[in-house]
Amino acid sequence: MSEKKQVTSQIDKLRDQLNHHSYQYYVLDDPEIPDVEYDRLYRELQSLEKHNPALITSDSPTQRVGDKPLDGFTQVKHEVPMLSLDNVFNAEELNDFNKRIQQRLDSEDEISFAAEPKLDGLAVSLLYEKGLLVRAGTRGDGTTGENITQNIRTIHSIPLKLLGNNIPDLLEVRGEVFMPKAGFEKLNQMARDNDEKQFANPRNAAAGSLRQLDPKITAKRPLAMYCYAVGRVDGGAILQTHSDMLDHLKQWGLPLCNERETVQGVDGCLNYFKQMSELRDSLSYEIDGIVYKVNSLKLQKELGFVAKAPRWAIAHKFPAQEEMTRVNAIEFQVGRTGAITPVARLEPVFVGGVTVSNATLHNMDEVNRKDVRKGDQVIIRRAGDVIPEVVRVVPGSRKRGARKILLPAQCPVCGSEIEQEEGEAIARCSGGLFCEAQRKESIKHFASRKAMDVDGLGDKLVEQLVDEGCIDHMDDLYSLTVEKIIGLERMAEKSAGNLIDALEESKYTSLNRFVYALGIREVGEATAQTLAQYFTSLDAIKAADEESLQKVDDVGPIVAAHLVRFFKQPHNLDVIDKLLKAGIHWDDIEAAAVEEQTLEGKTFVLTGTLTEMTRDDAKKALQARGAKVTGSVSKKTSFVVVGDNAGSKATKAEQLGVEMLDEAALIKLLK
Ligand code: IVH
Repeated sequence: MSEKKQVTSQIDKLRDQLNHHSYQYYVLDDPEIPDVEYDRLYRELQSLEKHNPALITSDSPTQRVGDKPLDGFTQVKHEVPMLSLDNVFNAEELNDFNKRIQQRLDSEDEISFAAEPKLDGLAVSLLYEKGLLVRAGTRGDGTTGENITQNIRTIHSIPLKLLGNNIPDLLEVRGEVFMPKAGFEKLNQMARDNDEKQFANPRNAAAGSLRQLDPKITAKRPLAMYCYAVGRVDGGAILQTHSDMLDHLKQWGLPLCNERETVQGVDGCLNYFKQMSELRDSLSYEIDGIVYKVNSLKLQKELGFVAKAPRWAIAHKFPAQEEMTRVNAIEFQVGRTGAITPVARLEPVFVGGVTVSNATLHNMDEVNRKDVRKGDQVIIRRAGDVIPEVVRVVPGSRKRGARKILLPAQCPVCGSEIEQEEGEAIARCSGGLFCEAQRKESIKHFASRKAMDVDGLGDKLVEQLVDEGCIDHMDDLYSLTVEKIIGLERMAEKSAGNLIDALEESKYTSLNRFVYALGIREVGEATAQTLAQYFTSLDAIKAADEESLQKVDDVGPIVAAHLVRFFKQPHNLDVIDKLLKAGIHWDDIEAAAVEEQTLEGKTFVLTGTLTEMTRDDAKKALQARGAKVTGSVSKKTSFVVVGDNAGSKATKAEQLGVEMLDEAALIKLLK
């Protein structure tokens, strides 16, 4: 072979390899080689092309990004118009759609539909001639769009050359170009870091990116595409269904959405709709509904079109997640832990399937960044079950004289000073147990199922008891009597008696429940449990300093600081005293603390099955002697206890040279 031929064949081989691996990566989501290997092949091709510029072709993977910005976009004509879709918003309208089809086909047969997500991006047409991407255009008005070939070529999931066999002479595919959620977040984070304007949503970001005259800019934007239809096809196999057609596109290397399915009749559609609604938030890309298409291409042809939309397809939209409304006021809420949250009170608006009249502004940093003011027109977003939030102010909607929102100096509930620690986004009321907001919340927490478990004492009743002046603090609960509460709303003699009984019953509890019930910041159930086990008495927990607290599993410097601060407050100690005086008690936690702290400062990892005791018992016994028990082996591990069938942890211990003990040695150590 001549040298030139050899280079040519080497270049061809590299291109085929790169195209294949792009396909595996972008379309099948199943890479065969690591990124560095791809990069190596890519650089090899780049270097060969650099030395043989005559061999560069426009479909080479190195030629995605052109270097000349355009003066403007030229036009593309869509020989087959790019249509839009009619919408339905509920089951009834979907039923009507199905009936219309059956009537037109004069058949009662259940229709097979291809169901796919309605992607929230821009419709684009790609034209392949003899397998090469020769032109790409926006939808425009459906007949004439803009030629965005340069920009489309920069999207890595779109093949410049189709793969596989039986490629049609001419193929015009259509699909949606969009920006995946993660890429959008990253892009906006970058904009924030550089004090630049952010994109309102992924669709706008995708549109803005495709409209760049300089393809180098587009190339930096994380765009993707899913194909969902064929405009024209000349040559190639004759197909029966829409889903078969999409499968063919995938085989030719085109990117397709993996969530598509074929379903039967309206019930199948609704089922799919429900499934996708639940999946929606976890998808990596935004969708705003579902598209159902009659799957049989023959029936599609029979049904035809009206004006601008096909009769054989329909979009079933999700309820809008964003809406516009007015801010009536901005208020500050105080949570159980004293956190101050700015909240926008809104003109009620229907969004994400419910009526919303409050939206969170999270914290003062957010208020300042978004600069929301009373009277502003704002965009509200409610996605899934997430708390509705203010996305941004509608530009130009501000009333004259609207004042900037400032953090109040005093707690709106109790008037105590508001404090904000250096570097913390959250401001807090310093009123602790005084503050009614915190008091109510702390009593609710105290009575809740996983804490003192006072049967029948729900949130509403706590509110009532506090509002009516029956109780101020949690300890007051235990001086309630039937007479004191019988007058309350919906509180007859029987239920009053039941509540008093439940309170009496709740007095017998456990140390961990009691510690959890106190509502100390960052002390959840699990931490309360480990604290109780480690210290075994309330007095010991109260007396512990930050250093000894941090010896407990899961207790770091922050939790330790919260604990120490909590037990330093006279008010808190007072409440605890009163609770104990009221009769709250628990069984002693056995033994643990009487053990000598023979293993203090040692760290253990347990792995495999022990025969004489459970791993949990071994863990407790070790902790009782002052040892720390962790889940993973590191250089700092003192001993790894190896039971039967131990796996990777034993191997790791061996590699790191950590001392290993068998069960017999462990038992000896514990004696
Ligand atoms: S099919 C003749 N399928 O929705 C059928 N469209 O409202 C034409 N869209 O312009 C479109 N996902 O931009 C189809 N899976 C999907 C889609 C989809 C998003 C967009 C597309 C179209 C618009 C119609």
